[in-house]
Amino acid sequence: MYNPTVIDHFKNPRNVGGLPDPDGEGYAENSVCGDAMTLYLRVTDGRIAEAKFKTFGCAAAIAASSALTEMLKGCSIDEALNIRKEDVAEALGGLPPTKLDCSVLAEDAVRAAV
Ligand code: FES
Repeated sequence: MYNPTVIDHFKNPRNVGGLPDPDGEGYAENSVCGDAMTLYLRVTDGRIAEAKFKTFGCAAAIAASSALTEMLKGCSIDEALNIRKEDVAEALGGLPPTKLDCSVLAEDAVRAAV
């Protein structure tokens, strides 16, 4: 069901945890499945220097959160706001269609954090 990249991000998630005194913190949830994500951002000179997450959810939700935090590093705020769930899925080498809408909380979490 999941490709090796998704499984790797699920088994070895990048940037798990919180940030003390983050510059931005955003919460997003999927009311259908109950997956929930909190995203923490540190911004330096207008760019995202650190991004961390805590996610409760399925393997796809954990992998998507992990990939998102990797994508956010080095982004300006505008660039971060332009990240779409399809971009996260692409970075993961694809997600099952049924998981794309419910597991990728990226857009809402980024908007909430900035
Ligand atoms: Fe995680 Fe629906 S349960 S995507």
